[in-house]
Amino acid sequence: MLSSLKVRSPVRQERRRGTRTAFFTIAAIALTCSTAAVAQNEDKVKAGLAAWRNSGCADCHGAFANGEKERDESPTGADLRRARLNTEELKLAIRCGRPGTGMPSFEDGARECPGGGGELYPAPTKLTAQEIDNVVAYLQARIIGRGKITKQECLLYYTDKPDWCDDYN
Ligand code: HEC
Repeated sequence: MLSSLKVRSPVRQERRRGTRTAFFTIAAIALTCSTAAVAQNEDKVKAGLAAWRNSGCADCHGAFANGEKERDESPTGADLRRARLNTEELKLAIRCGRPGTGMPSFEDGARECPGGGGELYPAPTKLTAQEIDNVVAYLQARIIGRGKITKQECLLYYTDKPDWCDDYN
C-alpha cells in the first residue's frame, strides 16, 4: 500500500517538465535580448564617438570633453564630464545650441528651439537626428560623470596614437 503512494502521478510529472521548459525558454530569450541590446548600444556609442571626432566638438570642449579646448581660437566649451543633463536636455543642447553662448546648433534648420537656436558660432558640421542620438549615447557611456581622464580612456580615443596617452595613468 505504501509503495503505491510513492508512485508519482505521470500527469504531474509531465506538468512539471513543461514548467521547467517554459522557464528555460524564457530565460534564454531574456539573455539573448539583453545581450543584443548591449551590443546595439555599443554600436551607437562607437558611432557617437565617430560623430564627436568629426564634428569639431573637441575644438571647444577638448578631446575628452573636460573643457580644455583643442583649438585656441575657439570659444571655451563646457566641461561635459560634469554635465548634469538628462537625455532630452543633452539632445536639446546639441540640436539647438545655446543662444548667446559659443555652443552652436548642430541640427540643420533647428526647429522649436528656445530662443531660436544658438548661431553665434556656426557649427563646423550639421548632424542628423540619429547622429545626435549616437553622440548622446557616447557622452552618457564614456564621458558624463567620469572623473579623471584615464589612460584606458585615452587609448580608446587615440587608437592610432597610443604614445599621446603616455602622460595618463
Ligand atoms: C564653437 C564651440 C563649440 C563647439 C564646436 C561645440 N560646443 Fe558644446 N558648448 C560650447 C559652449 C561655449 C558651451 C557652454 C554653453 C553655456 O554656457 O550654456 C557648450 C555646451 C554644451 C553642452 C551643455 C553642457 C551643460 O552641462 O549645460 C553640451 C551637451 C554640448 N556643449 C555638447 C557638444 C557636442 C556634442 C558638440 C559636438 C557635436 C559640441 N558641444 C560642440 C561650445 C561648443
